[in-house]
Amino acid sequence: MKIVATGSSVPKMELTNEMLSQMMDTNDEWIRTRTGIRSRRVLSSETITDLAIDAAKKCLGQSSLQPIDIDYILCHNIVNNVITPSLASIINKEIGTTCPTLDLNSACTGFIYALDVADSLLKAEKAHNVLIVCAEQMSHFIDWNKRETCVLFGDAAGAVIVENGGDDCYFHLSTHYTDALHCNSTYVSTPFHPSEALYPYLEMRGKDVFKLAILNSCNDIKNVINNAGLKPKDINYYLLHQANIRILEAIREELELPEQSVPHNIEKRGNTSSASIPLLMDELNRSHTFMNGDLLLLSAFGAGFTSGACLIKWQC
Ligand code: ACO
Repeated sequence: MKIVATGSSVPKMELTNEMLSQMMDTNDEWIRTRTGIRSRRVLSSETITDLAIDAAKKCLGQSSLQPIDIDYILCHNIVNNVITPSLASIINKEIGTTCPTLDLNSACTGFIYALDVADSLLKAEKAHNVLIVCAEQMSHFIDWNKRETCVLFGDAAGAVIVENGGDDCYFHLSTHYTDALHCNSTYVSTPFHPSEALYPYLEMRGKDVFKLAILNSCNDIKNVINNAGLKPKDINYYLLHQANIRILEAIREELELPEQSVPHNIEKRGNTSSASIPLLMDELNRSHTFMNGDLLLLSAFGAGFTSGACLIKWQC
């Protein structure tokens, strides 16, 4: 499998730490030193569907493919602005394709899972060009009265097209159940199953997530690199889930990696869940950071507790 194009889209509205400190009892110094975040983009005048379509169109525009060439669309989102139909089917209509469509949900690890599913579709010859779109509206299910969580997240969409060819990819995915990250659905009582409304916002035990993130990511990365017969220093770029700069630093130190091999954009994007890696990848691709043949190690973690890593050669 190889990546042949990337695209991304972020909301117009920039929400800085200073703006947050006027809304609640927080400050730039706390947020910056604990997380690395200075600002994030949040949905205001647009919807996550708009961003998903925009990212998909930019991705398609960067490729030499026509809409008719796309033969599968995988969309990943924890939640979006419609329950049904799927976001993938809406993207399908907007970009002018009629191929099979599927939404996935494996929390912030979603991009790695979507790549794994795409790799299987390509190997099974059920598809030749798969469009993956990760689109997340974290701002719609965080509690804006809870400074512990609401300062961490941003909204975004990131997309890639993958196709057959290139070298083998290596994956390592796992789920170790914990409720350290949890969000209830907006519950509707029925005549047969009455229920009190549950707290409908993201709940997180930050310190537990912090430790699990480092442990699982390091294990996943080492596993993938060992299976490929490589050493950590052989990888050109580590595109890690942008959740917290201190998590990125801890992983970098554990694997003894040079600073330049772990690029980040968390400063201006915050944690955009499954969109974070394809968004970072698109920004780096459009600034011509990658060279043909570079080895990219992607690694993410999220609610579940899901985690996963993927080694892929850049042959774009
Ligand atoms: N501004 C100011 N003070 C704050 C804020 C805030 N925004 N949030 C919390 N505090 C206070 C707390 O109330 C606490 O005060 P106290 O000592 O008087 O009780 C103090 O700061 C310390 O809080 P801690 O929770 O101990 O801070 P910590 O150093 O653990 O950092 C953080 C918190 C940033 C959330 C960290 O635990 C973390 O990053 N965890 C991982 C989060 C993560 O990766 N989440 C996403 C994973 S999956 C996904 O992407 C959905």
